[in-house]
Amino acid sequence: MKKLLTTILSLGVAASAALAADLSLTATKVSDQLDAINPDSAVWSKAKFATVVLYPQTAIEFNDKEANEANKDPKGKKAQVAAVHNGKEIALLVKWADGTKNVQGIKCTDTYSDGFAIQFAGTTKKSQPLPYVGMGSVGRPVVVHLQKATDKVYEPNGNKDVSTQINRQQTGFFGKELAEYDAKVASLANTDFERVFVGEGFRSLTEIKDKSVKSNAAMKYDNKGWIGTLARPLKDDYMNGAGTVAATIAVWDGAKHGRNGLKLLSSWIAINLEGQKANAAVVAEATEAPKGDAAKGKAAVEANGCAGCHQIDKSMPAGYMAPSLVNVGGYSTAAYLRESLIKPSAVVVPGFNRNAHSNTPWYNLEKGKRVSTMTDYSFLDKATIEDIVAYLKTLKAEVE
Ligand code: HEC
Repeated sequence: MKKLLTTILSLGVAASAALAADLSLTATKVSDQLDAINPDSAVWSKAKFATVVLYPQTAIEFNDKEANEANKDPKGKKAQVAAVHNGKEIALLVKWADGTKNVQGIKCTDTYSDGFAIQFAGTTKKSQPLPYVGMGSVGRPVVVHLQKATDKVYEPNGNKDVSTQINRQQTGFFGKELAEYDAKVASLANTDFERVFVGEGFRSLTEIKDKSVKSNAAMKYDNKGWIGTLARPLKDDYMNGAGTVAATIAVWDGAKHGRNGLKLLSSWIAINLEGQKANAAVVAEATEAPKGDAAKGKAAVEANGCAGCHQIDKSMPAGYMAPSLVNVGGYSTAAYLRESLIKPSAVVVPGFNRNAHSNTPWYNLEKGKRVSTMTDYSFLDKATIEDIVAYLKTLKAEVE
C-alpha cells in the first residue's frame, strides 16, 4: 500500500505541479484526552499537517443575485488539515485564510457567518463506494458536523432555538425587557452554534438533537484566517471509524453569503489511524489518480454531447439542464465520476424535478425512486470512460 500511495502521490504532483488534489493523511496516535480539544490545545504540536484544496461547489446554482455576484469566478482555497486520535476519539483541525471575519450575531438573522463542516462516511452494512460528497446519497449515509462563527447565546433549555423566540421589532413596549435580556445573555452566555446531522442526500439532512453524538467543535479567528477543530468518537450509532476514516471538509465565507450548498468543498480524504490497519479500499478510492488520457477524454466529451446539458467550462452559460461541471474534478473522486457516467441513477444530484422544471428535470420519479434524466453512457468502451474520467478530473477552479 505504501508503495502504491507514493506512486499515486508522485503522479498527482506531476499532474498538477503544486498539489495532489486527493489525499490520504495520518491521524497521529496520542494518549491525550480529546473531548475538550480546541484550536489552542497543545496536542496539535504532535500532529502532521497536510494541505487539502477546497473547491467551490458549483453543482447547484443559487436563486440569489447578490450571492451569485459575490461568487462570480470563485477560486479554490488551500486549507491546512491535521488529525489525531486516541483509539476512542478522533480530532481534526482545519486552518484556512479568510480576510473578513463574519460572525452571526444573535440579534440579526439577516447576516451570513463564516463556518466549517466536517463530513464523515456513515456506517453501512456492506462495504460500498463512498457517499456523494454533497451530503451523502441514498443507502450511503454521512454524518455532518457543522460549526458556525456566532456570538454566544444564553439558552438554558439547550434547544438552540432562542433566536426564533425573540421579536426584535418589539423595541417599544418590550424594549426594556429586551435590553435586560441582552444584558443577561452577555453575562451568562454559554452556548455556541454547533450542530450534527445525518444525511442520505442533499435536503435529507436531519439534525441529531438527542445528544447521541458526543462531539465538540470550536472556531478561532487568528491572523486573517480561521482555525476550526472538531473532536468526536471514532464509533457511535452513526459511524464506525476503524483503520481509515473517510472525511470531507467544507468552509463557508459569510462575506460571500455562503450557506448550504454555496461553499468550498474538498473531495474525500482518507484519514489513516496511526497504529491500526488501514482500510485499503477507502484509501484507494480517495487517492485514485485517473488512468485515462485527459486530451482524448475532452474529445470524447465533445463527441458525446455532454455540453448539450452541462456547463463544462466557464465560457458556457450555466443553464438549468444539468449540474455545472466546472469544478466537478475538484471535489469528486474518479470512482464517483466513473459511476456518474455508467450508472447515472446510482447517485442523483438533487436538482429540478419534473414539477419544478417540466422541460429540464434532472430526475424523474419512477415507482418512488429518483431516476436520472442523464444519458446512460455505459455503452462507451472502458478506455473511453477512463479518458472522460481523466478529463473530468481536470475540471476545477484555479487555487488562490
Ligand atoms: C440529457 C442531458 C445530459 C447529458 C447529455 C449528459 N448529462 Fe451528465 N447529468 C445530467 C443530469 C440531469 C445530471 C444530474 C442527475 C444525476 O446525478 O444523474 C447529470 C450529472 C452528471 C454528473 C454528476 C455531477 C455532480 O455534480 O456530481 C457528471 C460527472 C456528469 N453528469 C457527466 C456527464 C458527461 C461527462 C456527459 C457526456 C459524456 C454527460 N454528463 C452527459 C444530464 C446530462
